[in-house]
Amino acid sequence: MLRTERPCDVEAREALLDAAFGAGRFAKTSERLRAGLRPAEDLAFIATDGGRIIGTLRLWPVTAGHGRPCLLLGPLAVAASVRNRGVGGALIHQALHRAKALGHRAVILVGDPDYYHRFGFSAASTGALSMPGPYERDRLLACELVAGALDDARGLIMADPRDASRRSGLSARRPRGCSAAR
Ligand SMILES: CC(C)(COP(=O)(O)OP(=O)(O)OC[C@H]1O[C@@H](n2cnc3c(N)ncnc32)[C@H](O)[C@@H]1OP(=O)(O)O)[C@@H](O)C(=O)NCCC(=O)NCCS
Repeated sequence: MLRTERPCDVEAREALLDAAFGAGRFAKTSERLRAGLRPAEDLAFIATDGGRIIGTLRLWPVTAGHGRPCLLLGPLAVAASVRNRGVGGALIHQALHRAKALGHRAVILVGDPDYYHRFGFSAASTGALSMPGPYERDRLLACELVAGALDDARGLIMADPRDASRRSGLSARRPRGCSAAR
């Protein structure tokens, strides 16, 4: 089952990400770009199986060069015990569908081209874009939700300066009154 993330998902989500990416995950440029932000409204997703959290995917408000708002996808992780059953794909499809319905125009990510190509991501429109830190250029991919959304996009990918409410209630700690991970 897929649903929107809730504050009480924090611990299970972070455990899933630790297991998928290891302790070094916070050193990634994408992660540093997301630090202190909160996910784009209604664009953080959880996959569950019998109440257990088995997948997580979030989208973040960024700009792709000056004045061009778009979304940054990630991290995406699925529990090792349920991989290759379509959970990751379902999360991506849901995220792209919801993002488009909400009026977003493009989604960017740093990830494996062999995996993300099937969802419409490519490096075709990211050649003049860059991340604010180390990354592998051929892994910087984008999917236009609106054709031409990234035409002539150039410059740094940065946190969207219009996103005023930065500090996240969904990020670090388990909110008071929440039960443990479910
Ligand atoms: C990548 C990940 C999210 C995929 O989740 P999933 O639920 O197993 O994915 P799906 O079931 O939707 O898709 C499985 C297909 O993707 C392929 N795939 C998975 N990871 C891949 C990768 N890194 N590169 C290329 N193909 C990949 C599988 O071989 C499988 O191919 P098939 O359909 O031809 O058999 C999951 O493997 C994971 O959490 N990995 C660790 C964290 C990670 O690498 N996240 C992505 C960062 S780029």
